[in-house]
Amino acid sequence: MDLRTLRSTIASRATADGAGVRLRRSLGRAPGLRADPFLMLDEFSSDDPRDYIGGFPAHPHRGFETVTYMLAGHFLHEDHLGHRGHLRSGGAQWMTAGRGIIHSEMPQQAAGRVHGFQLWINLPAREKMKPAAYRDLQPEDIPQATRADGASVRLIAGGLDFDGQRIEGPVQGLSTAPLFADVRLPAGAEFRHALPATHTAFVYPYAGSLRIGDQTLPPHTVGLLSPGEWIDLAATGEPAAFLLLAASPLGEPVVQYGPFVMNTQAEIEQAIHDYQAGTLA
Ligand code: FE2
Repeated sequence: MDLRTLRSTIASRATADGAGVRLRRSLGRAPGLRADPFLMLDEFSSDDPRDYIGGFPAHPHRGFETVTYMLAGHFLHEDHLGHRGHLRSGGAQWMTAGRGIIHSEMPQQAAGRVHGFQLWINLPAREKMKPAAYRDLQPEDIPQATRADGASVRLIAGGLDFDGQRIEGPVQGLSTAPLFADVRLPAGAEFRHALPATHTAFVYPYAGSLRIGDQTLPPHTVGLLSPGEWIDLAATGEPAAFLLLAASPLGEPVVQYGPFVMNTQAEIEQAIHDYQAGTLA
C-alpha cells in the first residue's frame, strides 16, 4: 500500500507557440523534461486577445496524441480530412495524430477569456502509423461528481473511485490506459485515491497550491509522483484546482522534431519527407 510521494517538479515557463499564442509550458519545455508517456503540457490563460488571437494555423503532427481541454473560451478545430470540431468551455478534444494530421486550432472570439490546456501523450511504436482519429467531447460528455464538502472531479479519461462511486470518463481502451481528471478542492480539503501502482502520474495545480506529504507544490508546476498505489494530497489554506494525469509508461526511445514524435531519427526524416511531399496522412 505504498503512498506516492512528490518525486520532482517541473515549473512552467512563459513561451509562445502557433501564431504568437502566449502560454506556459512545463512538461516538454526541454527534451529531458518528459514523463513517459507524457511528452508536453501547455497551459494558456489570458483575458487579452493579443495573447491568443493568432491561434494555431495549419500545422502537422505524427506519432502521438494531443488532448485539448478548455476551461474557458471557444476554439474551432479543422483538419485536412474535413473534420471540424468546436472546443468550448468545459469541453475537450482527444486527437490521435497517428500517421499524420494537418490541422488548425483557431479562436472563435475577438475578446474575453481563454483558459485551457494541451497535453501530448506518446503512442507505442506499433501504433504510431495508425490512421488519425478524434473524439470531440462536449461539456456534457464529461462526467462530474461532487462531494459533500464541495470537492469535485471531472473525468475525461480512465476511471476513478470518488466519494464511494465509480466514475468512468468517455475516453477508454487506449494502450497507455490514461487517467485525465480535473479536480477542484475547497481550502484544506483532502484527495486520497487509488491509482495503478506502476502508472507514471503527475499533478498540475492551475489555481492554488497542493500539499503532498510535507511538501507544497505551487501553482503552474508539474509535480511528478513516485510509483505507488495511493495518492494523498490536499489543498492548502486556499481552494485549489488541478489536473491529475496518469498513464502506463512505454519504455521506448523518443526522437522528437517539433510536431513529429517517433522512435528513430530515420522515422523523423521520413515524416519530414512525407510532409514535404504531401503524403504525411
Ligand atoms: Fe496541433
